[in-house]
Amino acid sequence: MAASGARTAAIIGGGVIGGGWAARFALMGWNVRIHDTDPDAERRINEVIDRARAAMPGLWDVALPDEGRISFHDDLAEAVEGAEWIQESVPERLDLKHEIYAAIQGACTEAAIIGSSTSGFRPSELAEGATRPGQIVVAHPFNPVYLIPLVEVVTGPGTGTARIDRIRSTLRDIGAHPLFLRREIDAHIADRLLEAVWREALWLVSDGVADTAEIDDAIRYGFGLRWAQMGLFETYRIAGGEAGMRQFLTQFGPALKWPWSKLTDVPELTDELVETIASQSDAQSGRRSIAELERIRDANLVAILRGLKARDWGAGRLLNAAERRIGGAPRSLDALSLTSPLPTGARAVPLDWSDQNGHMTEHRYLQAFGDATDRFLALVGCDDDYIACGHSYFTAETHIRHLAEVRAGARIEIDTRLLLAEGRRLRIFHRMWENSRLVATGEHMLVHVDLESRRAVMPPPELQNKLARVAKAHAHLPEPEGAGAAVGRPPERQPDPQE
Ligand SMILES: NC(=O)c1ccc[n+]([C@@H]2O[C@H](COP(=O)([O-])OP(=O)(O)OC[C@H]3O[C@@H](n4cnc5c(N)ncnc54)[C@H](O)[C@@H]3O)[C@@H](O)[C@H]2O)c1
Repeated sequence: MAASGARTAAIIGGGVIGGGWAARFALMGWNVRIHDTDPDAERRINEVIDRARAAMPGLWDVALPDEGRISFHDDLAEAVEGAEWIQESVPERLDLKHEIYAAIQGACTEAAIIGSSTSGFRPSELAEGATRPGQIVVAHPFNPVYLIPLVEVVTGPGTGTARIDRIRSTLRDIGAHPLFLRREIDAHIADRLLEAVWREALWLVSDGVADTAEIDDAIRYGFGLRWAQMGLFETYRIAGGEAGMRQFLTQFGPALKWPWSKLTDVPELTDELVETIASQSDAQSGRRSIAELERIRDANLVAILRGLKARDWGAGRLLNAAERRIGGAPRSLDALSLTSPLPTGARAVPLDWSDQNGHMTEHRYLQAFGDATDRFLALVGCDDDYIACGHSYFTAETHIRHLAEVRAGARIEIDTRLLLAEGRRLRIFHRMWENSRLVATGEHMLVHVDLESRRAVMPPPELQNKLARVAKAHAHLPEPEGAGAAVGRPPERQPDPQE
């Protein structure tokens, strides 16, 4: 699925992080060229991209652009030539990174942005000895890069405002959240916070206060849930009660002087402590492979992100903003041909829509068809504004046929045929496709109602006219296979006038 006219990113170093970057760019429609010196890199990266294909597109309720072309290059210069964004994700060694930038700058355009995934180095350190220092910035992501939106960006004095604007718009374009640091500092923001918790956790194990599973429980049953949706300061503001943050600081400020924390000190990672932590971790999680843990992590993250999306909050709000930019099906009948069923849905199946059988679970078919019904109604004029004025359609009857398996990540499209628009009643027939394979159908009877009396009433003339226009055009289409079928029984065959 080569995307012609697509933008191009180069990924230098395709390990855990580079593979994730490659997936995020490609699934957002960019062509991606990858250079990694390890002969096994292609296999590893393809595994990451496959995981991302199952997880990432389903974050949104609209279809993403067609996937970009992914290619592997033994020659670094070939990979970066003409690329608009070059993301370096080689191991965290300054000498190696310097060597890589010299090779990149010898082959890339001056306009290209070179982002480094470095967890700790400052841009001034990265750019030492570079031919064009302003071209190199920190773009620090989080694992898995294709699901976690945060990218910490650290620029230098030579970056320039035009480049900063391009960095911001590019990262937004791939669904990320760029957080620009006000000034450079070792390890940026997030890793400094993580390092603080990590040191404290190591002390708790070293002192025999808790094992690795108990520390993880303290996070995932407790403050980790709060942090994912409100962070630290907003959470503590609430903890201060009605008086908010001032009260919180007055109440808990003195505790900062108590010897609660060992932060200034680091436990010695002796062989004994390493063995203790590793064996506790084996006891906690060793029954699952890393690949299995990665799949569980991805499914959990998708569920959390989609939950926040429904609440339009935090990282979920970012998904909604990206969705508005991506756009969806046409919103006006005038933009569509009425000589075929109307396009009413295009999306990927989210990971949290699949069940223990590994395919889309029943009620999600109804959700997808319900969304398609809403889109059909909006097209004929029964949109949010119309409903706010006091009328709507209620669904009275539904018949869904599951014709083929659909797995997480699959791109599905729905089209809708109007079978009947008579008086207060409306009968529509949805078909769900994966590529050109019919995977499900949904037939629905709807009734037009007055939202105050909650009774069926005739739709107004304007709505009737639009429905009549579609009904007249759709009357020329052949009866869709399966329309009018009862559960377990095919539809009654219409007599053929030729017989
Ligand atoms: N692992 C994380 O959680 C994480 C998170 C954020 C940022 N980072 C940063 O991302 C960078 C990469 O980390 P990682 O965890 O992906 O490491 P990794 O070891 O998984 O991947 C590094 C990749 O670079 C390749 N490589 C080594 N030398 C190369 C060269 N000369 N040319 C091309 N490729 C080369 C390796 O073959 C490997 O595939 C580091 O700077 C790290 O600090 C890591």
